[in-house]
Amino acid sequence: MASPQEARVPDIGGFDDVPVIEVLVSVGESVAKDQSLITLESDKATMEVPAPFAGVVREVKVKVGDTLSEGGVVALIEPAEEAAAQPTPPAAAEEAPRAQPDAGTGERPAAETGTRVEPVAVAAKPDNIAQASIDREPAGATQAAPPRVLDADAVMPDKVPYASPAVRVFARELGVDLLQVTGSARGGRISREDVQQFVKSALAGGAAAGGGAVAGGGGGGLNLLPWPKVDFSKFGEVEEQPLTRIQKISGANLARNWAMIPHVTQHDDADITGLEALRVELNRENERGADKGAVKLTMLAFIMKAAVSALQKYPQFNASLDASGETLILKKYVHIGFAADTPNGLVVPVVRDCDRKGVMQIAQETSALAKKAREGKLGPADMSGGCFSISSLGGIGGTSFTPIVNAPEVAILGVSKSAMKPVWNGEKFKPRLVLPLSLSYDHRVIDGAAAARFTAYFAQLLGDMRRAML
Ligand code: COA
Repeated sequence: MASPQEARVPDIGGFDDVPVIEVLVSVGESVAKDQSLITLESDKATMEVPAPFAGVVREVKVKVGDTLSEGGVVALIEPAEEAAAQPTPPAAAEEAPRAQPDAGTGERPAAETGTRVEPVAVAAKPDNIAQASIDREPAGATQAAPPRVLDADAVMPDKVPYASPAVRVFARELGVDLLQVTGSARGGRISREDVQQFVKSALAGGAAAGGGAVAGGGGGGLNLLPWPKVDFSKFGEVEEQPLTRIQKISGANLARNWAMIPHVTQHDDADITGLEALRVELNRENERGADKGAVKLTMLAFIMKAAVSALQKYPQFNASLDASGETLILKKYVHIGFAADTPNGLVVPVVRDCDRKGVMQIAQETSALAKKAREGKLGPADMSGGCFSISSLGGIGGTSFTPIVNAPEVAILGVSKSAMKPVWNGEKFKPRLVLPLSLSYDHRVIDGAAAARFTAYFAQLLGDMRRAML
């Protein structure tokens, strides 16, 4: 019986003492020719050392954290013919102690062990793909295939998860988004087993621990139970009503925003007694004026004008996170969206350049956009480019609510129904018209103190719009 033969590190482009970051096989495991045995990772590149021939791994000579240079022994592999005659039960083999690595000597082994080993180079930095080298052929070994170069860049997402190239390729083959997988290996590295576990969980209807879903599958990256399937007709008469196109689109956006943005809602009250009196007075004047009935000055228009001042004073509210989530993009323009209820569902038309428009013009434009929305005539341009949104339910009712941030915006103001309330002025209670404000914000960008300041300032502005001139 031929003894197991050594699989050694081939020419790896002159690197010495390269750390082993992953051992991809275990004792007793059958390996195919060219199957990766270990992953080495230098500063410049990540390389996989493949099996020089098919067989059974009889001994793994290295462990994660060891270092290897060219010629270092990775494993002892019994070539397939011998292995077939003398299979080693993996369980027994697992018990064999792992030898310490023959690491870093860089010396060539004796000729009789000669194996042809070609590293699979997966460039962590594409300028440095290690070259394959050719050692001697083992007795009975077949000609090795040309080196397999895996294009890691092609499978690396923008934000690179900590995983070896082999695992990245494996994940891609299975359609797994590695950003959704939690690594259990040292330092949080994602192993092949983590990906397998993730897929198993996803197929079972849930998601892997700490993970999410297979790309394109359900779960949306969350650890969610499957949606309950209930035959409601068992309990009484039912009728099916398909969601409208707008409901489907806005629903998907709302679900994503709700799930991905850490929301906090800050509540405050604005004393709009004076502002409402002014609004009523101005509308009365308009009624009497030459352009009688031309525009109805709405509370929403004043709120949008106040938003301009608040956004200018607190610019981090007029911002968006970029796709990487690591850079804040501050906007120098002020386009404000407002939620509009339509028969077909919720839409958010945008009034552009509110900083350059008066309340009257804003009222005119919101009214025109709301009409267009109800008629289902809004185009994409009417709904894009918003910096901040306002959702006013004041005409309907309610005392407060928690609006969902309209990504990629970072905050949205919910406005509820104003009501007369007794307000203590330091000496006595006075009846005041109080408008409830509910500011939901993305806590990744805005901290609680900033949100409280912003909302308090907003309330002050509505309490006295002269502040907007300051
Ligand atoms: N408190 C008390 N009353 C209010 C109010 C408030 N905050 N805001 C408006 N009103 C009153 C107005 O005074 C008006 O009363 P009137 O008819 O006696 O004059 C009435 O409500 C309607 O107000 P109007 O100004 O015409 O409209 P609006 O500005 O309230 O709303 C839209 C315009 C487009 C925002 C509204 O039609 C809409 O679609 N709202 C729903 C938004 C929504 O669905 N948000 C939820 C998103 S999740």
